[in-house]
Amino acid sequence: MTPPERPDVIDVPSETEAADGASGSTTLTATIGPARRMDVIDVTAGFGGKTIIANIGLKVEPNSVTALIGPSGCGKSTLLRCLNAMHGTAKNAWVRGQILLDGVDINAGGVDPVLVRRRVGMVFQRPNPFPTMSIYDNVAAGLRLTAGGRGRHDETVERALRQADLWNEVKDRLRSMGGALSGGQQQRLCIARALAVEPEVVLMDEPCSALDPISTSKIEETILSLRERYTIVIVTHNMQQAARVSDTTAFMTILEAGRPGELVEAGPTSAIFDQPTNEVTGAYVSGQFG
Ligand SMILES: Nc1ncnc2c1ncn2[C@@H]1O[C@H](COP(=O)(O)OP(=O)(O)OP(=O)(O)O)[C@@H](O)[C@H]1O
Ligand SMILES: [Mg+2]
Repeated sequence: MTPPERPDVIDVPSETEAADGASGSTTLTATIGPARRMDVIDVTAGFGGKTIIANIGLKVEPNSVTALIGPSGCGKSTLLRCLNAMHGTAKNAWVRGQILLDGVDINAGGVDPVLVRRRVGMVFQRPNPFPTMSIYDNVAAGLRLTAGGRGRHDETVERALRQADLWNEVKDRLRSMGGALSGGQQQRLCIARALAVEPEVVLMDEPCSALDPISTSKIEETILSLRERYTIVIVTHNMQQAARVSDTTAFMTILEAGRPGELVEAGPTSAIFDQPTNEVTGAYVSGQFG
């Protein structure tokens, strides 16, 4: 497959520079194209004196959908935010361990968190389009933040809206306000906004929890089609959704009150649901707690 054209050029540290811990901006241009793998190695993260997740190890394969499941409060969103360096931007937040994007530690010196977030996009639980901005401008918003990103982005906007399965519903009203769309359409608009900047990995934190079943099913179809091109990690409380859309499932929980969230097991989704190796996983996926 021919790699898609990037809307612009992103400078990222080379692997050698990142490994050396070199600081400052660098000159390497991000290679574009295939989805990227992520490796979470012994990650512990928290706020101030509190550890929220501990010793997480997870391989996120390219061109696959990984579902993060587990009871409320076990740290799924925290882990997701670590994957695009957002966790570290919160007050008193800290993270230890390594998070590798195609072998490069995203927390290494010299790696710009803004660029990490550009390569690893995020879609949140509640659709959060800019309500008074047009549909077109919502999708183009990320492109306009970059140098040389002003001007028209017709092709990119159309491509992103098609990928998010929203194009046919909005192509005749691209100048209408984003806030005028239905909740499900707004969430697909947010997916389009995330895709417009050509990320390599897309993180989704309960993207369907505020949506009706029809909108949910549209988003699930979108996720399945995006797998061809992106690496996707989705947090969901919906076991059927995890089973429908994911290739790999990772189950996290708090094993005892007062302990941080831990990864109990991860593996092919069918195995996690049908033959989990850990009995706590079995109890969770069969609805006995959580
Ligand atoms: N800014 C913060 N400061 C301190 N503790 C926080 C902060 N944000 C989250 N936490 C705590 O971290 C823990 C994990 O939160 P997180 O949102 O990651 O859980 P979750 O698994 O995503 O839960 P849910 O399924 O309800 O979304 C919770 O106990 C939460 O109270
Ligand atoms: Mg959460």
